[in-house]
Amino acid sequence: MSIRPIHPSRLPDLLRAMPKAELHMHIEGSLEPEQMFAMAQRNRIALSYPSAQAVREAYVFDNLQSFLDIYHAGTLVLKTEQDFYDMACAYLARAQADKVVHTELFFDTQTHTGHGIEASVVINGLHRACMDAPAKYGMTASLILCFLRHLSELEAFECLEQAMPWRDKLVGIGLASSELGHPPEKFAKVFARARQLGFRLVAHAGEEGPPDYIWSALDVLKVERIDHGVQAIKDARLMQRLVHDRIPLTVCPLSNLKLRVFPSLRQHTLGRMLDAGIVATINSDDPAYFGGYINENFTQTFAALGLDAQQAHTLASNSFNASFIDGSARARHIDRLNEVFETFE
Ligand code: ADE
Ligand code: ZN
Repeated sequence: MSIRPIHPSRLPDLLRAMPKAELHMHIEGSLEPEQMFAMAQRNRIALSYPSAQAVREAYVFDNLQSFLDIYHAGTLVLKTEQDFYDMACAYLARAQADKVVHTELFFDTQTHTGHGIEASVVINGLHRACMDAPAKYGMTASLILCFLRHLSELEAFECLEQAMPWRDKLVGIGLASSELGHPPEKFAKVFARARQLGFRLVAHAGEEGPPDYIWSALDVLKVERIDHGVQAIKDARLMQRLVHDRIPLTVCPLSNLKLRVFPSLRQHTLGRMLDAGIVATINSDDPAYFGGYINENFTQTFAALGLDAQQAHTLASNSFNASFIDGSARARHIDRLNEVFETFE
């Protein structure tokens, strides 16, 4: 669709008003410090920070690993099915305010089973929130179970096995956690098994890791979407492949900024990727840790890179095209998106 130009001063309102899907958000990364304190209190867990403000002040990261260490500590307050339900509902309420109409939530069970919590507690709590999403928040939500790549493939197999009784509650399988030194091919067999079982497949690749990790996520794991993928810009042949096969990248600009993948948002490569024809989307990754939910990612990135209304429309329609919703829901969302653009004053 050709989009009429919109004055840059009106762009933030358009970005906030347009319907969108969020496809890269770790639900544990949406746990705000205040909620962390409330859960710690109700579960009688001592936190090593005196206040929510002190927790926030500790959120300064040098790289992915320095973030993952703090993020992991935050998950210790989650104990009951209700905790997982409440955490997901808090995110869904924020997403609704940002005009998210569909989301695919990442979660993992390995972090929690490592703390003695049953996988069923995690999956049932999150799934109940997803089921309540249409009535409570006017949106759809589904779940993607991520394996933790710093653990072994054998442990990923155990995780998949444990989740099988609830397989109907999951749309897909993903791969997250420490990237460097843990290439996708480490998980070749378990992804092949997940594929056989009919799961949709995604993987984090090319966040900090080299373009080779994106190649192997595509060719060995056979994923349909790449999470992050920003390092692809270093490999012209890979860029051609991503464009030719219309492989979506779920890009998370504020995450990349906070984890020092780029020194500033002005140096982010999203604009160049869109210009090259990459099917990119904008997402928040771990919004409680990285300084903003999806609309904050949109508005700050557009301001820093000077992106325009046409690119806003492309990013929102990419988010629906890259999602795992069915064709009729996709068409409905894109019709509504077009209507918002046509009527925006
Ligand atoms: N888990 C939560 N956030 C992550 C990220 N940005 N990269 C890899 N694993 C993660
Ligand atoms: Zn992520």
